[in-house]
Amino acid sequence: MKALTPASFRLATVLVVSAVIAILGCGSGSSSPPAPVDVDSDLPLPLAAGIAPTPPMGWNTWNTFSCNISEKLIQQTADAMVATGMQAAGYQYINIDDCWSTKDATGVRADGEALVPDPAKFPNGIGPVADYVHADGLKLGIYADRGTLTCGGFPGSEGHEVQDATTFAGWGVDYVKYDNCPPSPTPSAAEQESEYQAMGAALAASGRAIVYSLCAWNFYEWGVSLGNLWRTTTDIKPTWDSVVANLQTNQAFAAYAGPNGWNDADMLEIGNFTTPDQETPDILTQYQAHFSLWAIMAAPLILGNDLRGSQMSAAVRAILTNPEIIALDQDAFGYQGVQVWTDGGDLSVWAKPLNASGARGVVMLNAGAAPADVTFDLSQIGLRDGSATARDLWAQADLGSFKQTFTRTVPATGVVALRVNGVEPLRPSGTQVYLSDLEWTYASNGLGPIEKDESNGASDPGDGTPLSLRGTGFTKGLGVAGPSVAVFRLAQSCSTFSAQVGVDDATKGGGSVVFQVWADGTKLFDSGVVTGMSAAMPVNVDVTGVRRLKLLVTNGGDGASLDRADWADAQLGNCM
Ligand code: GAL
Repeated sequence: MKALTPASFRLATVLVVSAVIAILGCGSGSSSPPAPVDVDSDLPLPLAAGIAPTPPMGWNTWNTFSCNISEKLIQQTADAMVATGMQAAGYQYINIDDCWSTKDATGVRADGEALVPDPAKFPNGIGPVADYVHADGLKLGIYADRGTLTCGGFPGSEGHEVQDATTFAGWGVDYVKYDNCPPSPTPSAAEQESEYQAMGAALAASGRAIVYSLCAWNFYEWGVSLGNLWRTTTDIKPTWDSVVANLQTNQAFAAYAGPNGWNDADMLEIGNFTTPDQETPDILTQYQAHFSLWAIMAAPLILGNDLRGSQMSAAVRAILTNPEIIALDQDAFGYQGVQVWTDGGDLSVWAKPLNASGARGVVMLNAGAAPADVTFDLSQIGLRDGSATARDLWAQADLGSFKQTFTRTVPATGVVALRVNGVEPLRPSGTQVYLSDLEWTYASNGLGPIEKDESNGASDPGDGTPLSLRGTGFTKGLGVAGPSVAVFRLAQSCSTFSAQVGVDDATKGGGSVVFQVWADGTKLFDSGVVTGMSAAMPVNVDVTGVRRLKLLVTNGGDGASLDRADWADAQLGNCM
């Protein structure tokens, strides 16, 4: 039998006392459940400081209008954003994409040559457009490019970063999307990085708070400390398959997402699959799924449809302004939902902790062509065994309580989106508590599941080898593959966290990662780059008062090959 922890002892005491009261007939006669024990009094956490504490919400010209853009379009869209109630729902950026400037006659900008707005499209320049958008209470975004030419062949910012950032700030721009053309000749990784960094530094020095949106079509780890959002995918298209493809690509980088730095699965295509008069119920179901999936992933919500007049149907407007799905995206905890179950085919369940005790966002996805039942278990979404309640975010209706598992029939190419309220895992208790003896509340891992008390082998559970760092074996610990994150609920119960970290001997000297320990948004430890040759590194941090402990392993800046990383001997000390 398992020893009782103080918290489970408290629960057991409550249960025994209630049972005795019931047997003796001394109670009120009601069979109300015991008062919940062990509830966080420390959630919600406050919204993070910074320019993008939650994923940016707005609109962009590209998906619908391509190069057919103008001052009038921007003004009309800003007005529509307000009139349709979308601003009130949270959208704030109106972003001009490629093709806003004039082309350079020689093809390449001379030293000091400024970007010039196309007088046919923006006869008054960009500054007055920014003023107009600001007068609506909205913010203006613009597009630029790290190379010599944008993807549309307009002048790029290479070598002009400070000049362009100064120009944008002078116009009152609030958001810069920075593209990655020309694609050929392919720039080296180092060149891309330094060009993106040059604009980042220029924006930071511009004197204006400007959201920096990296559009390098791929995830690069250097983007994490540089941008407020970074594209992880190729260009989205207005099709169901493209939505699912971008979901799959974007999920791999969940470990890196959080306040002020978001994985960008690309702009929304809701409203763009067909013209409004062709919108069938099936297409609206797909739009609901697209919106729900971006929301569970905490992806930026940048609309790509025409918001003006009858170009946006009432049904699409209702989808895009659903307050409960928007709240799922904008949750201040800032976790990117991860796939917690899949049948290996079209069916999957995605979940993330929300910023309230026992609250989880859940999206059940059926990507296939026929309706199907999908089930999840409380343990899969990081809640304690027992019962929980669910709320349907599309129906905006409470579904009542359920015991342990929840099943729903999910429509073809559709979702069921839920907010589930249950009970958090027990607080750790004891003088020495190994993390591998606890349940995490959230985890994402580069290859298969995080392993307990063994290294991360390949993609199957339990396929690792004994934890080993430079010849020293460890019986306890977590074996992960970068990029990886695991979040444990400490609930202010413990005072220390310690471990020996390193790349497991299974890689035979290969692999390189960075280990980081985070406490409620504050970094407590950073190993710097650790390779398969580095000695095990001790971690000893004070976690007094910490609510959530986050263990992050990055890919070390060089891709995830051989990044089998061990949190050996990982343990909490003095947990009350
Ligand atoms: C692509 C980018 C698109 C759009 C386009 C404009 O590289 O991914 O989102 O900005 O360029 O040319």
